[in-house]
Amino acid sequence: MKKLSFLLLAAALLLNACDKPSGGMLKTDTPPRPIGQTDMLGFRCDPIPTVRVGFIGLGMRGPGAVHRFTQLEGVEIKALCDLYPERVEKAQKILSDNNLPSAAEYSGEEGWKELCQRDDIDLVYICTPWQLHTPMAVYAMEQGKHVAVEVPAAMTLDECWQLVNTAERTRRHCMMLENCCYDFFEMATLNMAQHGVFGEITNVEGAYIHDLRFLNFASKEEGGYQGMWRLRYNEEHKGNPYPTHGLGPVCQVLNIHRGDKMNFLVSLSSDQFGMTEYAKQKFGADSPEAQQTYALGDMNTTLIRTEKGKLIMIQHDVTSPRPYNRLHTLSGTKGFAQKYPIQTIALEPNAHSPLKGEEMSEFMAQWEHPLTKEIGEKARQVGGHGGMDFIMDYRLIYCLRNGLPLDQDVYDAAEWSCIAPLSELSDRNGGMPVEIPDFTRGAWNKIDGFHHAIAE
Ligand SMILES: NC(=O)c1ccc[n+]([C@@H]2O[C@H](COP(=O)([O-])OP(=O)(O)OC[C@H]3O[C@@H](n4cnc5c(N)ncnc54)[C@H](O)[C@@H]3O)[C@@H](O)[C@H]2O)c1
Repeated sequence: MKKLSFLLLAAALLLNACDKPSGGMLKTDTPPRPIGQTDMLGFRCDPIPTVRVGFIGLGMRGPGAVHRFTQLEGVEIKALCDLYPERVEKAQKILSDNNLPSAAEYSGEEGWKELCQRDDIDLVYICTPWQLHTPMAVYAMEQGKHVAVEVPAAMTLDECWQLVNTAERTRRHCMMLENCCYDFFEMATLNMAQHGVFGEITNVEGAYIHDLRFLNFASKEEGGYQGMWRLRYNEEHKGNPYPTHGLGPVCQVLNIHRGDKMNFLVSLSSDQFGMTEYAKQKFGADSPEAQQTYALGDMNTTLIRTEKGKLIMIQHDVTSPRPYNRLHTLSGTKGFAQKYPIQTIALEPNAHSPLKGEEMSEFMAQWEHPLTKEIGEKARQVGGHGGMDFIMDYRLIYCLRNGLPLDQDVYDAAEWSCIAPLSELSDRNGGMPVEIPDFTRGAWNKIDGFHHAIAE
């Protein structure tokens, strides 16, 4: 008997060992929660009947958001801000074209602070370059504002904790604007997953594969990023700087911090060839752009293991000449879904043959998510990546107006964003496993599954 229990114990230890990296793991610190501060899981604020909004960052992304907000009920656009006053002027025109009153204007390096200080704003909506996201979000929350911030919300682990601690301390919402969670196929497959169509989901994949060579090397006059911020980032950083488009939707499927959690990752990149090649073609072999070193590899692949034994693969490639792809692959014990390159659903007992033609259309219609059913048609009309951006904004405003928890909370923002610095850490250490912090500080199992809150 004694021998048997010893064997069982040894077997259990062996099994357990497979859950953890067998070599070393780079540990990350979890700062203790400051005394008096509590978690924000399921956090609600009093309903805000009319949500008064200020926008910061009116480059390529921001004006589209301003336009979408002109199409929403229960909002007032109070203030607009960009580094450049002419961009603010241009966004004002979106308001006048929609017969809306003009908004207060802010510009220059620090104008955004004045916007955040206004006492007639409930929500600050941030569409600036990556490294300004956290400083602006933190400042806005400190001024008592709820925050919606573009992806990734944070670029360092310290910034992730700043967001969590500031939201917890100020009791303000901090939502990262992960629009890909609201695309039609992602919503439908989430609905299917939540109803067990794929059985137990065991592994998932997401990606941001988008040839951005033109934009990265475009000047302001050519319509590029302000101050070429993305190229400058690529010069310095490895890993996956932009993980959230692929990760957000699959984390919702896996109920991350709502019953499961990401434990550790390993990450590797190819070397960089594509940016140099492109720069040679565009500017000449001796040009500073072609001579410049770029740390970011062409392709990065990151693998994440969860507490419940699930596997997430996330890729990033913005330099290879290939079609756009976010993968969105869900694989379970009873079926499979994949969005790119062709929307595919395959189910037991015929999982070797994907659904085709009418059968596929009927199946997709049957499982359309209630939210896209409700607002999808209007979203397609208003637009924004085919409508998903509008669905995201609609949900944000709906939840604020009804005093509901937001679909994406500050822990999502921190968890999905932290893959940027942690994949870089692993990548720079030969793919070494890196621990992913539990930003809920022990409460990852408190909420049972991911659900879109609905007003009663
Ligand atoms: N979710 C999506 O699908 C999606 C799509 C595109 C971009 N984005 C994100 O949106 C953000 C903005 O991207 P973009 O393509 O619009 O870049 P962009 O360079 O075109 O725009 C950034 C804007 O921020 C302004 N800005 C810079 N410093 C500022 C300051 N101190 N105060 C006020 N404004 C300042 C710039 O002048 C510029 O107009 C990025 O985080 C990007 O990753 C998300």
